Amino acid sequence: MAAATPTSYTDQIVYTDEVAEFSPEVVEEMRSHLAKYPADRTRSALIPLLFVIQRERGYVDNAGVNFLAKFLNLEVTDVWETATFYSMFNLREIGRHHIQICKTLSCKIMGEPDITDHICSKLGIHPGETTADGKFTVSLVECLGSCGTAPMMQIGFDYHEDLTIEKVDKILEDCK
Ligand code: FES
Repeated sequence: MAAATPTSYTDQIVYTDEVAEFSPEVVEEMRSHLAKYPADRTRSALIPLLFVIQRERGYVDNAGVNFLAKFLNLEVTDVWETATFYSMFNLREIGRHHIQICKTLSCKIMGEPDITDHICSKLGIHPGETTADGKFTVSLVECLGSCGTAPMMQIGFDYHEDLTIEKVDKILEDCK
């Protein structure tokens, strides 16, 4: 299966004024992150707080971003700028196993296209899609900082490096 051009997820976001609500415990957790930064540098807390939003909401959604903008006294666009810059933040629902394949130069020349085609063919999806059973999402991402062990991919928080077709088959099997 030929790999399709990845979809732009930002095109699929529905922007509304809805503001997410969180339990007092989660708000307290957010305040503890905020307390680590100077009072006039609330923007610095964006990364840890976006991780909290992602954990609580399943992904970084519009209502969660609106909450953070209010919580940090920032513009909504300030929050989206950060959320959309880093591939570690998901902007839509994803499968139980999120396979992020590095598509940048070192990985590309070391075989990423074949790895991507193989994975997508096995799962019956294109990059940017999730399998019908909700188990796997495949994304193509920029350099993950492991260029010396290219080609590589990240699943969840784990790196899988020096990939071969055989290694990929074993990794996918272990995910099932
Ligand atoms: S180019 Fe793939 S990890 Fe850097």
